[in-house]
Amino acid sequence: MRHATAPKIPDGFHHRGRRERLLQKIHETHGGGLVLMPTAPEMFRNRDTLYPYRPESYFHYLSGFPEPEAVLALTCDSAGKTRHILFCREKNPEREIWDGFRVGPGAASEMFAFDETFPISALNEQLPALVMNQSALLTPMGLYSDWDSTITRLLGALRTQARSGHTPPACIVDVRDVLDRMRMIKDDCEIALMRHAAAISAQAHVRAMRFARPGHFEYQVEAELQHEFMMHGAQTAYPSVVASAENACVLHYVENRRKINAGDLLLMDAGCEYQNYASDITRTFPVGRRFSAAQKDIYELVLAAQRACFDALKPGAPFRAFHDTAERVLTQGMIDLKLIKGPLDTALETGSFKRFYMHRAGHWLGLDVHDAGQYRRGEHDKTPTLLEPGMVLTVEPGCYIRADDDIPAAFHNIGVRIEDDVLITKDGIDILTSAAPKNVEEVEALCTQ
Ligand code: GLY
Ligand code: MN
Ligand code: MN
Repeated sequence: MRHATAPKIPDGFHHRGRRERLLQKIHETHGGGLVLMPTAPEMFRNRDTLYPYRPESYFHYLSGFPEPEAVLALTCDSAGKTRHILFCREKNPEREIWDGFRVGPGAASEMFAFDETFPISALNEQLPALVMNQSALLTPMGLYSDWDSTITRLLGALRTQARSGHTPPACIVDVRDVLDRMRMIKDDCEIALMRHAAAISAQAHVRAMRFARPGHFEYQVEAELQHEFMMHGAQTAYPSVVASAENACVLHYVENRRKINAGDLLLMDAGCEYQNYASDITRTFPVGRRFSAAQKDIYELVLAAQRACFDALKPGAPFRAFHDTAERVLTQGMIDLKLIKGPLDTALETGSFKRFYMHRAGHWLGLDVHDAGQYRRGEHDKTPTLLEPGMVLTVEPGCYIRADDDIPAAFHNIGVRIEDDVLITKDGIDILTSAAPKNVEEVEALCTQ
């Protein structure tokens, strides 16, 4: 198989462009202000061993700066003049021998397009001057308790100086609200990275489908997915679900310990993250055999629901529309298969279908697998967000039938989900993950060859 080619992404200036757009919005709304954005802290796994480090997504979106212990300070004055400042770790030859390279404030300004850079050790000393007399402070609140304390202490200290004519910002806003709106529309760099992440994940699913055979353990299939991700410099975007037979009916099953039997359905929900951008694919297939008649009935129902969802996606459509479509198609199918009672409108109204389909049909996708972004238009406008070109979302209908006494045995332990990643374009949609096969014939060919 041809290997996915990594996209060419320009240097730190596209992050600067996002910072400028953020500041412009702040100028329009607040007449200027200060943004303070910390990155994620490192986390201990045990004793002196850390979890692999991942920068905070909003921080990454605005800077591309990969190291912990860093804070962005962005200002915009009433005339619209901006300053981009980064606080980061200093170079440290001793620590760099143990832990690896540090960019340091010297090189960071050019590499990441900042006007000024300072050692992180200077942050507390510089914050009062940065915050003083700003009309608005925009910072995440309730994200990191240490950062909340830093801001509380800072504002408290500034208030004690009010008599000397300095005022703390009258308006304090969580910066994530405006950033969420920006992150909902992916720019060209983001789309290129997401396309690449999607291509890697599709290849990983093909590899795992070819590998999975009766007698394998679920974790061995997971290892195949992981192999393909890592061979492309990517990592898992979320813990992979590799769920055979009854495990496929557990939506967030991640133990992946069971031995797979011939004819079991195997549900794999696995996607990689490439340069911090996620993909999210689910495929379901029979191991070592063709689909049984009942497995095929459910599989084709879910596939039909997904196709109907795609038809409901276009610019201007409300986000909810494809979710309603998924519920309608799946519910009619359950009635036809005598899993639930009709008529359709009653089943939809009473929610009887939720016994077999209990989740949403999709979510925003981007830096986070369940990405930032509103599903409704606003605090005072509860109508659904309308789709726009540049938005990326998943489409993931499913059907999960447990081995209950009132269900015919042929349907027991059938759990099917089919999930793809979709970019809304100006004319309709672009399915980023279509290289992962899902037609019955293609899937059976891969699983039995
Ligand atoms: N993989 C997480 C989800 O599908 O939402
Ligand atoms: Mn998903
Ligand atoms: Mn998923």
